[in-house]
Amino acid sequence: MSKVGKDEKKLLEAALGAMHNAYVLWGFAVGAAVLAEDGEIYKGCNVESWVSGLGICAERCAINHAILHGNRKIKKVAVVIDADSQSEPKPCGACLQYIHDFAENSKIEIVMAKAKNSKVFFETVKVKTLEELLPFPFRK
Ligand code: THU
Repeated sequence: MSKVGKDEKKLLEAALGAMHNAYVLWGFAVGAAVLAEDGEIYKGCNVESWVSGLGICAERCAINHAILHGNRKIKKVAVVIDADSQSEPKPCGACLQYIHDFAENSKIEIVMAKAKNSKVFFETVKVKTLEELLPFPFRK
């Protein structure tokens, strides 16, 4: 596991900021932040719908945000989930594939943690590479 340095902390804090805007109807709040090729951090939150399949996960929201600002390559991803949730903070399969579609390479880091009350729980942080989490991505 890689060290949680200044860059990872900054990305996790950005993801936490986004988590506060999550639109939650039936699930739990998730925030994500991506470091894009222009050096900026783009945030995203999950947006739920009562209609199955219409919502979006925080990670894909953050990537779409980066794309909207002209970025096509992602260098690092952070994701935080509400600490009250029983789930583990990690991207779902669909988000892993989407991260792969826009990742600079398969070694980019995905930094994951739980958070609550405006605080990232740094003791819960896990760092994995994209290829560790998605060893067999779909390629055309
Ligand atoms: N969710 C994310 O935002 N990211 C993931 O990678 C996993 C799941 C959201 C979808 C839904 O709004 C809530 O978390 C519960 O599954």
